[in-house]
Amino acid sequence: MSLRNRQFVLLIGAVLLVTGVASAWLWRHSGPSIHSWSEAEKAVLASLALESLPPLPPDPSNAVGDDPRAVALGHRLFFDTRFSANGQVSCATCHQPERFFTDGLARAHAIGTTPRHTPSIIGAAYSPWFFWDGRKDSQWAQTHGPLESPVEHGGNRTQYAHLIAQHYRDEYQALFGPLPDLSDPARFPPSAGPVADPEARAAWEAMAPEDQEAVNRVFANLGKAIAAYERRILHGPAPFDRYVAAVLAGDQAAAADILDPDQVAGLRLFIGEARCINCHNGPRFTNDNFHNIGLPWVEGDPLDQGRLAAVPHVLEDPFNCLGPYSDASPDDCQELRFMKTQGPELLGAFKTPSLRNVAETAPYMHTGQFATLAEVLQHYKQAPLAYPGHSELSPLDTISQAQLAQLEAFLHSLTAPVAAPAELLAPPSQEP
Ligand code: HEC
Ligand code: HEC
Repeated sequence: MSLRNRQFVLLIGAVLLVTGVASAWLWRHSGPSIHSWSEAEKAVLASLALESLPPLPPDPSNAVGDDPRAVALGHRLFFDTRFSANGQVSCATCHQPERFFTDGLARAHAIGTTPRHTPSIIGAAYSPWFFWDGRKDSQWAQTHGPLESPVEHGGNRTQYAHLIAQHYRDEYQALFGPLPDLSDPARFPPSAGPVADPEARAAWEAMAPEDQEAVNRVFANLGKAIAAYERRILHGPAPFDRYVAAVLAGDQAAAADILDPDQVAGLRLFIGEARCINCHNGPRFTNDNFHNIGLPWVEGDPLDQGRLAAVPHVLEDPFNCLGPYSDASPDDCQELRFMKTQGPELLGAFKTPSLRNVAETAPYMHTGQFATLAEVLQHYKQAPLAYPGHSELSPLDTISQAQLAQLEAFLHSLTAPVAAPAELLAPPSQEP
């Protein structure tokens, strides 16, 4: 090649390089861009961002809910395997910090296997209802479910009260006042409670009502300490939240660096055509309400009425907001007093879960029916008829398979490290 030719080739190369860079710059910095949103859309995006989540309000039913000493005690109890029938099960058996407080199983497994899938506890303190069917109305009363379930911790109330007296006496008394004198085994048997085990149940029924009440109070307080710990386990900001901040600041270049075009398209579908936002709304991506979404019935499972069956449980629960172990005044119990107690929409309805970290918490739904997000999205596209009850979904006929993949890509932008002091994400260092 002659010198002239070589110079010409170099010149063309340089021109191509400059125009390439310039058009890439223009593509990112000029409109219309995938990152420009209408004012109405921006308001929706802001409503989903973690920024719009208010600080966790106090739980009036739990007087120690924000007491650091209760957090420390609850932290130890959450990881303490002595609070179980076989000395091997703690809350963290199923709510594993390194798995965003889930267990990766379709159905939880400890002493036995539960009929339901383990949800995360991150940010759960914001919810007015606990469990997939909302059969508990506070996080402290929720703890009683697994502690007394024969397939989870498998223990009973007097056993737990004795363990508190033996291992946590000082910490307990500093928070809740004197423990009852549990030393007489005729009055406080080692193993008694209203549980499935017939011997423990008979022992409980033989106890004097005032002794039962004394044990109930310890049991309630144990739950209140665990709930204080759980209240510190919150959602951290995810790429989605940083994206919204960039969009609201008008910085499209920054926005383009956070979410890729598929994720942005998925977000547009999520708040638009795919209607996900009807239920997964607000900064935790849940309306905290109950819906029947027509999930496939799993062969061999008994019929699960969901919210409908839970209503009488929460109303009759002596540990509910209006009960004698609650620290709330009746005025504080609006959710319970004005809850919906009947209606066909309660049949087969379950609590809308948060979608934060959802890409990391497979499998999905209240019995872990779906192994992957792709399966979840196929379900939403098809929206089959429900059994029991009526599905609130209608098929997403206009949404293509490629768009379902975009929705899935978007869900990956909701993953973030847990917002909690690092020491709370591992078992406490010293055992008493
Ligand atoms: C055997 C595994 C297992 C153990 C042990 C366990 N859980 Fe769970 N947890 C579950 C399952 C399964 C559910 C859902 C059950 C349902 O809806 O009926 C659940 C639900 C919850 C919820 C409700 C979350 C929500 O958004 O409604 C909270 C909070 C919770 N557990 C905390 C705890 C605490 C605290 C402990 C220890 C006292 C504990 N869990 C022990 C499996 C477990
Ligand atoms: C009518 C209310 C409603 C709508 C609309 C809705 N969801 Fe859901 N979503 C729920 C409920 C309720 C559950 C839990 C159902 C169950 O387990 O019984 C759920 C569960 C999920 C789960 C599983 C989460 C987990 O941790 O198990 C994902 C993922 C999900 N929804 C994503 C979406 C997407 C994406 C859309 C839009 C295509 C959407 N949802 C539309 C109410 C809704």
